[in-house]
Amino acid sequence: MTAPSTTPTTTPLGIIGAGAIGSTLARLAVRAGLDVVIANSRGPETLTDLVAELGPQARAATAAEVARQADVVIAAIPLIAHSSLPVDELAGKTLVDTTNYYPQRDGQIASLDEQQMTASELVQAHLPETRVIKAFNNITFASLGNGARAAGADDRSALPIAGEDADAKQQVTALLDVLGYDAVDIGGLADSWRTEPGTPAYCDPYMPAWPTEKLSLDELVGWLLAAPVIPMSTSELTELVSSTTRGPAGGYFPETT
Ligand SMILES: NC(=O)c1ccc[n+]([C@@H]2O[C@H](COP(=O)([O-])OP(=O)(O)OC[C@H]3O[C@@H](n4cnc5c(N)ncnc54)[C@H](OP(=O)(O)O)[C@@H]3O)[C@@H](O)[C@H]2O)c1
Repeated sequence: MTAPSTTPTTTPLGIIGAGAIGSTLARLAVRAGLDVVIANSRGPETLTDLVAELGPQARAATAAEVARQADVVIAAIPLIAHSSLPVDELAGKTLVDTTNYYPQRDGQIASLDEQQMTASELVQAHLPETRVIKAFNNITFASLGNGARAAGADDRSALPIAGEDADAKQQVTALLDVLGYDAVDIGGLADSWRTEPGTPAYCDPYMPAWPTEKLSLDELVGWLLAAPVIPMSTSELTELVSSTTRGPAGGYFPETT
């Protein structure tokens, strides 16, 4: 039987990176009925707890196995680790790039500092035969997990996508849809600076104002998870993205005690 055009992938959804964003996307995917194959840097044997929590629809693998087994693979890793994404195994696949540039974590990257390219163009340059689509980068893991809603819900939010390949964009739009979000196409990877750290569409519109007092990391994570989600409509997101101007590249993590 031919899969309906709204099916994001007929293979398991691949996820490389099993931290805050990767595990949140895995939970949303399993909830949506998708099979998931997920990797981290340390090996599948270190993902036993997460896979047990996710249940029988999920399994752990190496990053290369994920790329071999999945047609749509989410990269949920620090930007600096993009150079370890498996080039041959990802050739011909769709890669959903969630990465953001944080010099505190990634070190200074001259091509980004000098605005010669966006973070996702850097990822695309490493994966010339892969259809890279930027998505899920402009919302915290907490808002992402808490803000997913069924299609048509009044409080469903929109997320931006960017990339060159129209078919891959359709796949990622379908993925967002089943996971609980509308998609706003903001253009090519060169345009994806419009939702990078420091822009008006980056994380803040989906959540209340950040706490003013300095918290420990655990307290901050708890605060983020407990914060209500502020829904963002496609028209609000379109307006934010189109009205932004380009500032310095890279974000800064909030200070913690
Ligand atoms: N956290 C957020 O709210 C958020 C929101 C939007 C976008 N993002 C972006 O999403 C990306 C991931 O952020 P995160 O907060 O989820 O990070 P995180 O919690 O630190 O998790 C990173 C994950 O990537 C894995 N990893 C690192 N290097 C790898 C490699 N070479 N191969 C395979 N897996 C590797 C780590 O595995 P090990 O633990 O085994 O090393 C870990 O599972 C970043 O680029 C971030 O800027 C984050």
